[in-house]
Amino acid sequence: MTRRIETAVLISGRGSNMASLIEAAAAPDYPARIRLVISDRRDAGGLSAAQAAGVAALAIDAKAAGGRAGFEAALDTGLRQRGIELICLAGFMRILSAEFVSRWRGRALNIHPSLLPAYKGLDTHARALADGAREHGCTVHWVTPELDSGEIVAQARVPVLPGDDADRLAARVLAQEHKLYPSALREVCLGLLAAQCGLGSLSTAR
Ligand code: GRF
Repeated sequence: MTRRIETAVLISGRGSNMASLIEAAAAPDYPARIRLVISDRRDAGGLSAAQAAGVAALAIDAKAAGGRAGFEAALDTGLRQRGIELICLAGFMRILSAEFVSRWRGRALNIHPSLLPAYKGLDTHARALADGAREHGCTVHWVTPELDSGEIVAQARVPVLPGDDADRLAARVLAQEHKLYPSALREVCLGLLAAQCGLGSLSTAR
């Protein structure tokens, strides 16, 4: 395969989902190239993991950039300078403005640790347990201005087991996240590449 979708991963912390994307993209036939990792925190563990895997890693400090507008301007510049076509949010904890999201609409994915539309926002595992949910999971979705509300790309389910606490449930979900995100990104990129080749219009031809 020659053409791949140039992809950046945005993180704020340990970056285990980022690592699963980098690992998947190491396969020669994977349709995305992970070109860049950007964190809004200098101390994000994922930054050194990205560098160790040979991926360019950049921290943008919002305070140093002059607040939200400065942060997003630096982010947009960093992405465009490297020819990024698609963004994967992976444990990225900063809410992006509607303006930024609109600019990247249809070009930004997120992974969320619940079966959306259930449990948008934080503390998803504890909330699922508190509700007595019997099933939980994770979702890859398109990013839209409204938090955790964009069109769903893929989901994976896990059972809630007797004796689960939030950490145990989170670990079971995370193991699924590490499979779901690479497979969802693959499908999305194959779709984008097909559309760029004009193949995408075939399915809608009348
Ligand atoms: C994951 O559970 C992801 O779904 C959520 O934040 C966590 C990030 O973990 N948005 P990691 O940094 O990818 O290890």
